[in-house]
Amino acid sequence: MTNSSAAYVEGVVDYSTKIPNNVGLVNDARVLKALEQWHPGYIDWWMTMGPDGFQTSEVYLRTAVSIDPKGWAQFDYVKMPEYRWGVLLATKDEQRLVNFGASKGEKAWQDVPGEHRAALRRLIVIQGDTEPASVEQQHHLGKTAPSLYDMRNLFQVNVEEGRHLWAMVYLLHKYFGRDGREEAEGLLQRRSGDHDKPRMLGAFNEATPDWLSFFMFTFFTDRDGKMQLESLAQSGFDPLSRTCRFMLTEEAHHMFVGETGVGRVVERTCEAMKAAGAGDPYDIERVRRLGVIDLPTIQKKTNLHYSLSLDLFGSEVSTNAANYYNAGLKGRFMETKIDDDHILSDAKYPVFKLVDGQPKLVAEPALSAINMRLRDDYSKDCQGGIGRWNKIIEKAGIKFELKLPSVAFHRGVGEFAGVETTSDGTILSNNEWLRRRDEFLPNEDDGAFIASLMKPCWEKGKYAHWIAPPKVGIDNKPGDFEYVKIPRA
Ligand SMILES: [Fe+2]
Ligand SMILES: [Fe+2]
Repeated sequence: MTNSSAAYVEGVVDYSTKIPNNVGLVNDARVLKALEQWHPGYIDWWMTMGPDGFQTSEVYLRTAVSIDPKGWAQFDYVKMPEYRWGVLLATKDEQRLVNFGASKGEKAWQDVPGEHRAALRRLIVIQGDTEPASVEQQHHLGKTAPSLYDMRNLFQVNVEEGRHLWAMVYLLHKYFGRDGREEAEGLLQRRSGDHDKPRMLGAFNEATPDWLSFFMFTFFTDRDGKMQLESLAQSGFDPLSRTCRFMLTEEAHHMFVGETGVGRVVERTCEAMKAAGAGDPYDIERVRRLGVIDLPTIQKKTNLHYSLSLDLFGSEVSTNAANYYNAGLKGRFMETKIDDDHILSDAKYPVFKLVDGQPKLVAEPALSAINMRLRDDYSKDCQGGIGRWNKIIEKAGIKFELKLPSVAFHRGVGEFAGVETTSDGTILSNNEWLRRRDEFLPNEDDGAFIASLMKPCWEKGKYAHWIAPPKVGIDNKPGDFEYVKIPRA
């Protein structure tokens, strides 16, 4: 990093400016000013759309003080509106190249190439739009937190999504001039689920009505975020790559919250079934009378969140994706580890398509199938977590296996939009679908049952009946640690 300021030390987060950062904002008056001007609007947004009812609570949060592993996870109590949202990029590698596409082998770009300006701006805005959206979706959840531990994790995810918004807004201000400023404003104007000004992508306009939805969301939808960040981390536009690489370190915690969250729900259900001698997972009434969430409902939630998240990858065959790849803007998962020419002019990739009314794999030009490939990598990643949930069920001796539904199931985007299938991908007529929908997706009764369990449990060291305690505390804190100090009215 070239930086002459004595006050600025590479790798360390500079807290001397209003916006903590490791990009030398102290020497970049134009961008610092732009971000300072954006700041009040952000705080307004946070106060109205951030965690409802907890803005004066003291939350035990981690904050980055530097980007190296040691300086990163510093924990302390902080009131969320006072959280130091900052701009943090992974360290610059002077040798880094554009690693794929038509410009492969050039030095990575430190500025936006003119011909890719519009495409890059769009990629950054789409990514940026998802970050505040999830905070909006989770606005009410604190009130029904099943423990102070879970409440803290929710708020940690929320402040970090807020920081991810900052990360994208920094890029817009720094590299995109006036239209960047306008886009940064737009990111504060749209609202999840809003009729007139919705967020840009479907899954980010869905409700997150309960904590099982939250855990499913962080498992499935944040994982889409992870895959998108992974592919943007490959970008030939180096500032975007470095931004995404640091975001990924935060995203890992979100995956953890989702996977362990669902895992703890599964664990508690199995425990309660065993204790009551209720071994039949399909005896839903009996399991629900135990005050836990039955496994078939957890399967239906899985079907819902997985299918909504698959839609976020876009069409399987996509010219946009091909153009982004060819331009060196958005790569594949683990691009540099893949053993091929990274140009893909002749390569093929199998795409799951509807052929004569049946789902089949068809070889397509790999360049147009970039989305499909990323989605496949995503599915593999999801499968890992599903396997670990199944281990919990198996260990309890219950005969039930959670499964990812077919990629054809319940799709709103791509090859399978507009057809109805069972969760294993058998095509259904519209009437059959209407008759059988409740076998595959949560219905109103399922939602009402889960809602009935969502009672706050805020006593130190206590957990709501429907979820098992975690194996270890955050920052190795003991079981009765007060993760959130809520002022009593
Ligand atoms: Fe994020
Ligand atoms: Fe996230």
